Amino acid sequence: MSYSRRDFVKFLGGSTLALGPAAFVACQKEDENKVSNAGAPFKGIDYTDADDFVLAPGFEYDLVLSFKDKISDKDSFGANNDYTRPIALNDKELILWVNHEYPDILVGSRWTPGQERTKEMIDHERYSTGGSLVHLKKSGKKWQLVYNSQYNRRLNGNSKIPLVSDRPIEGSTVAEGTFANCAGGVTPWQTVLTCEENYHDYYGERTFPERKMIPSRLQWDKYYQNPPEHYGWVVEVNPKTGDAKKLTALGRFSHECATCIPTNDGRVAVYSGDDKNDEFLYKFLSKKSDSLEEGELFVANVKEGKWMSLSWDKQPKLKEKFKDQTEVLIHCREAGRLLGATPLARPEDIEINPATGDVFVCLTNNKPRGNFHGSILKISESGRNHASMIFKAEDFLVGGEDFSCPDNMAFDKAGNLWFATDMSGNAMNKPPYSKFKNNGLYYVPMKGKAAGQVIQVASAPKDAELTGLSFSPDGETLFVSVQHPGEKSKSLKELTSHWPKGGSAEPLSSVVQIRGPWPKA
Ligand code: FEO
Ligand code: CA
Ligand code: CA
Ligand code: CA
Repeated sequence: MSYSRRDFVKFLGGSTLALGPAAFVACQKEDENKVSNAGAPFKGIDYTDADDFVLAPGFEYDLVLSFKDKISDKDSFGANNDYTRPIALNDKELILWVNHEYPDILVGSRWTPGQERTKEMIDHERYSTGGSLVHLKKSGKKWQLVYNSQYNRRLNGNSKIPLVSDRPIEGSTVAEGTFANCAGGVTPWQTVLTCEENYHDYYGERTFPERKMIPSRLQWDKYYQNPPEHYGWVVEVNPKTGDAKKLTALGRFSHECATCIPTNDGRVAVYSGDDKNDEFLYKFLSKKSDSLEEGELFVANVKEGKWMSLSWDKQPKLKEKFKDQTEVLIHCREAGRLLGATPLARPEDIEINPATGDVFVCLTNNKPRGNFHGSILKISESGRNHASMIFKAEDFLVGGEDFSCPDNMAFDKAGNLWFATDMSGNAMNKPPYSKFKNNGLYYVPMKGKAAGQVIQVASAPKDAELTGLSFSPDGETLFVSVQHPGEKSKSLKELTSHWPKGGSAEPLSSVVQIRGPWPKA
């Protein structure tokens, strides 16, 4: 029996929701020619394991900034860049926000396994996480740093950030630091949302309701005793001033992203996924049109296509288990599970199709459930209304055939989809991931005969992932974060990557700017 690609995806139906092995097994059946132009104004590349940032013919790139680059006399660019968000100042100038997800232990704090974790190392690491704000100016086709600009600044693991909450959390209304900043979002009023994902790695986690401490991986708590409940939030940053606040109304979990869209009735919907096996998809609806400080949080029952309120006032089950709304927000996972939310295959980045309003959710994988390659889920809110309480869910693309482990996405000005993959460093270039070689950037036309085809446009250096896709306001540049090249290096003497400098240089996470023959609208 043979299926066309379209029937094939339909046939799989909700299999990736059910987290079963069907997607992986079935996807091995089709292997159409990989290098195609599918109606695009360029030809794709084949999978490669080169230690380089490889681009399809016609595309070119330049570095914007690398880890440790000075952005001012006072500050330097952080480690492991992820989410990027350009905010226009005018046609030729912008402020670029860049997340710094986690410390580069090898190159940054120069720590090797077995060595003692010193305070000096951890202070380096605290400074290297969070985010950067950098002023860029376009000179010819290229965006360049304005060194020492008044806009250049850092948020990091030391920054004091207010918690916007009904009551103090663990006795405080201020959190020390932001870190684990993975993906993010932008509000309709052009502030940046940066999302704290794997927060438990730094100050551990406390179980609920037992309050038992689970130790941290990076042992920052060895020198700083900060409460875990101060992390795992969405942080709103004013790109012009650097003022930041943690928005507790959006809930606490491993926030991958926070994707905003105005609703038909003048509020703002914010979609966010919890990137952990069998965790949930959330939607927040603001109370006001110009603030995310207050509103109602919902969790998705994807199987029944409905949003369920996490309001303590409205849900008797939550009243029974939690003492107030703040406690529900701190423990969204427990609250969602109590209400019967649908476990998903690690929901990561979310983007909204500008042409249809459909909400695209990357489900990276769920290996313990036999789902190795993930999928892109499409959620269509009833009546295209983002305030709706009901929706339809279907697979848009299923991994295993053309790509594996989708993580980050962006739509271009013409409404086509671009996405990048995140096969983990341990898994890459080994079965069942071998054929995909290094992580890549892919293009999916959304219209015409080739709609839904997947064309690889870029390949990452060794061990790296491509993240933080964002188009410049003029649509001519795609900013991409090249994160963790050489992360599987055993030591500074045995490096697996030398990107971007080449030779015997240490690998450095960097933001690049890509120019290309972008598809026309
Ligand atoms: Fe930081 Fe879920 O990727
Ligand atoms: Ca991610
Ligand atoms: Ca994105
Ligand atoms: Ca990821």
